[in-house]
Amino acid sequence: MSPFIAVFTLLSIVILSIGSCSESSENVNEIVDETDSTAYYAFRNSVNEPPEDYQGPRFELSCNYPTELPAGGADMPWMKIDVDFTDKNPSWSDGPWLDYINAIKRYAFEGQDQNLTNDAGWKADIDGGTRWFHVPWMAYNASAGREYVHGCTSERIASVEDFDGDGVVDIATGIGNLQHSNDASSITHFETWAVGMYNEYAGYAFSQLFPKTGVPSLTDNLPTGLPFPVGTCVVKTLFTTATDQEVPFLVNSPEWTVNRHKMQGDTTYLCERERQAVYLVQVDVAVVDPRSPTNWVFGTFAYNGTLDGATAVERLDPVGIQFAMDPGTFPGIEKDKSEPAYQSVLNDQMTIYEHFGCNGRLCGPVDNPEASCMSCHGGAYTAPMNELDKMGENIPQIFGFDGMCTTFNEQNEAFFSNRKYPEPYFEDMFPDAIPLDFSLQVQVAFTQYKKYTLNAKNTCSPTTPH
Ligand code: HEC
Repeated sequence: MSPFIAVFTLLSIVILSIGSCSESSENVNEIVDETDSTAYYAFRNSVNEPPEDYQGPRFELSCNYPTELPAGGADMPWMKIDVDFTDKNPSWSDGPWLDYINAIKRYAFEGQDQNLTNDAGWKADIDGGTRWFHVPWMAYNASAGREYVHGCTSERIASVEDFDGDGVVDIATGIGNLQHSNDASSITHFETWAVGMYNEYAGYAFSQLFPKTGVPSLTDNLPTGLPFPVGTCVVKTLFTTATDQEVPFLVNSPEWTVNRHKMQGDTTYLCERERQAVYLVQVDVAVVDPRSPTNWVFGTFAYNGTLDGATAVERLDPVGIQFAMDPGTFPGIEKDKSEPAYQSVLNDQMTIYEHFGCNGRLCGPVDNPEASCMSCHGGAYTAPMNELDKMGENIPQIFGFDGMCTTFNEQNEAFFSNRKYPEPYFEDMFPDAIPLDFSLQVQVAFTQYKKYTLNAKNTCSPTTPH
C-alpha cells in the first residue's frame, strides 16, 4: 500500500468513527486511543455501527451548535398568540390553546417530509441552514442508547392498556378495540423508540453547555448556557413497536426502521439489536414562553389514522397542552382542598382512546397515566459532578414511585409542585441537585457523562415488563 493510500485509509476510518463535533475530529493526530476519548463518547452518532454493506438512512448527530444567539426569539409564532395562563376554566375547543399548539406544529414540521417517511427521516437542515440539533451523550448507554438508523433511544415500554384503557373506556366508534386485549397469546407490551430535536435557540445554549471536549460545563455550579432562551422549541417523535393490527388507529402511520432490541417470546426484550419496523404514535413539543409560570409550555399529538388528512402530519391529533403542574389539584394537595386542574388544557373531543395524565393533567399516548409531562420534566436535575445520578437518592424519582397520583404524600406534593429554573426541586428535598431547566435529555447527558467519567458499569440486561 502506498503511504498516501495508507494515510487516507487511516484518516477515513478515524473520521467515520468519530462524531463530527468532537474537538478530536479536527485534529486526528491527537487521538491516541479513541475508546478513551471523552469527546468520542459524547458526540458519537450511535451505540452500534451499521454493518459495512448497510445502505439505508444513517443518523448523524447534529452538534455544530450556533455560537451566537439567533435573532427573533420573542417573535416565534406561538409567542404572538394571546393565551391566558391564569384562566381557571380554560376551554380547548373555543380557546386559543388549539391555535397555540397548531402554531408550534406548523413551525416544527416546516420543511420536513409531511409523511415522515423512513428515507426522509427527520431533517436537521431546513432552508439551507441547520434548524435542529441533538443532545450529546445519548449514544453511550449500552441498553437504551441511540441506534444508528434514526438516532432513536429506547424509552418507556407501553402496555396494551395505554392504548385502550383495558376495555374500561367504551369507544363508540370501535376505534381502540384492540385485538390483543382479548387474545391471551399475544404481545401486551410495546417498546417505544424516540428521537428529540432542539431548535437553534436551544442550540445556542448547547454551544456553551456542551463544549467540544464533551465535558458538560458548569459555571458557579449551574449549567453554562441555561436557562434555554426565548425562541426555544423542542420536538420529540415517538415510535411504537405496536402495529395497526394491535392498535387500529395507527393505520397508515409513518413506518421507520430502527435498530431495536430483538424480542424473545412475547415478553422479553433482549440486548441484541436488529433493524425492525416501528410506527409513529406520538409527537411531543415543548417551547419556552416567559408568560408561563414555569417558563415552558409542553404539548403533545397522538397519531390518529382515522382522521381525514392527506398527510401524516395532518393526522396528528392534538391531545392538549400543559404549562405547569397544578399544585392545587390532588395529590399536589389534600383531596378535600383539591380544585380542578387548569394548568393543563386537554382536548376533550378526541375520537380515539386517550388516557391523559394524573387528575386532569397532560400525558401522551405512551406515557405513564399516573404522571404528567411537566411533573416528570420538572424533575430534571443532576447530582453534584462527583456523584452518579441516583433517582430518589440525590435527584427526584420520576419513573413511578409508590402511590404516584393516588395518595397525598410529600413525594406527590413535590412531583406536582411548580418551579422555575434555577429554583430547587421542593423544600429541602435534594438540596445539592443541580437544576437542568426541564430538559431530561440534558439530564441523560449529565448522567451518562458521569457514568463514563466515574467508571460506572455500562452494561445492558434484557428487560421483561410486568
Ligand atoms: C416518565 C416521565 C415522563 C413523562 C410523563 C414525559 N416525559 Fe418527556 N421525557 C422524559 C425523559 C426521561 C426524556 C429524555 C429521554 C429522551 O428523550 O429520550 C424526555 C424527553 C422529552 C423531550 C425532549 C427534550 C427534553 O426535554 O428532554 C420532550 C420535548 C418531551 N419529553 C416532551 C414531553 C411531553 C410533551 C410529555 C407529555 C405529553 C412528556 N414529555 C411526558 C420523561 C417523561
